[in-house]
Amino acid sequence: MGFSEKLIVWYNENKRDLPWRKTTDPYQIWLSEIILQQTRVNQGLDYFNKFIKKHPDIHSLAQSSEKDVLNLWQGLGYYSRARNLHFTAKYISNELNGEFPTVYNEILNLKGVGEYTAAAIASFAYKEVYPVVDGNVYRVLSRIFGVEYPIDSTEGKKVFKQLATELIDTKNPDTYNQSIMEFGALQCTPKKPNCEDCTYLLECFAYKNELITELPKKEKKIKKRNRYFNYLVIIDEDSIYLNERKEKDIWQGLFDFPVFETNEPLTSFPLLEKEFSNIGLILKNQSIEYKHILSHQKIYATFWLVSSNKTKNINSKFLKTTLKEINNYPIPKLIDNYLKTIL
Ligand code: ADE
Repeated sequence: MGFSEKLIVWYNENKRDLPWRKTTDPYQIWLSEIILQQTRVNQGLDYFNKFIKKHPDIHSLAQSSEKDVLNLWQGLGYYSRARNLHFTAKYISNELNGEFPTVYNEILNLKGVGEYTAAAIASFAYKEVYPVVDGNVYRVLSRIFGVEYPIDSTEGKKVFKQLATELIDTKNPDTYNQSIMEFGALQCTPKKPNCEDCTYLLECFAYKNELITELPKKEKKIKKRNRYFNYLVIIDEDSIYLNERKEKDIWQGLFDFPVFETNEPLTSFPLLEKEFSNIGLILKNQSIEYKHILSHQKIYATFWLVSSNKTKNINSKFLKTTLKEINNYPIPKLIDNYLKTIL
């Protein structure tokens, strides 16, 4: 048996029962793939079911507001994916009569859809022969075939794509693509892969050469930028003030608290008082610090629980809501985590 035949045999014996594998509806497949770029299957399932229940078709998603889409997406992070999802739903609903494009190149042209997602949709919905190449696939192929090119180099990307194109089962591209991703997720995992009980045990390059922990290779380590967010948690009886993040920055379209960003940790309250002198801050409680790590940034957040004696000046800039109604607003996980400690 060849590589892909073996893979499909393995898949048929080990696959999980997942809703997006029981449909050829491109809307559902697209939605699932966008969600699964952000999270693992277990958590992704909850989000997928929530989205499908609220928006069973693309017109429904298109008619929703961006705020409601961000709210459904809340907790997944990388909110531009949710904004692109909404944009593309509106585009397909309004400009294409709700008809999802049916060929790879047209799918690839949709906002928020890259080569991986286009290959997944084209193969799962229309049986087009395009191999998916994502982190799972890099890992499986680099280990079994001993590909040592870095996965984040231009040349590496070319080599892996070429190999994936040679390996795909042209009669069953949909099953093949599901299989390789499932194999990466369940068998050939990043840490502690299940090598002892693997269908490729005798031929796997990495296993034979004790290179499991070395492959796949990466060229660069992402250098993360440090940011210091000093948050004002202004609670006035059961009201609280939110800041709508309108700038082109992380969490665009989400709500956090009034914030003073600094280049270094802000150690004393008077500096914050000065920055917000028009609000008349009174410190109510010791500050609490959180570290929140994103793909390219480390956020050091300090929450200062305060009250204000000039609330008029807050109202013009920030949104007043109640602690109960805060759930109506999309908020970053960092803020959600903090709120859980005070509510
Ligand atoms: N991860 C990304 N796409 C997936 C899929 N279709 N099934 C399971 N895991 C996935």
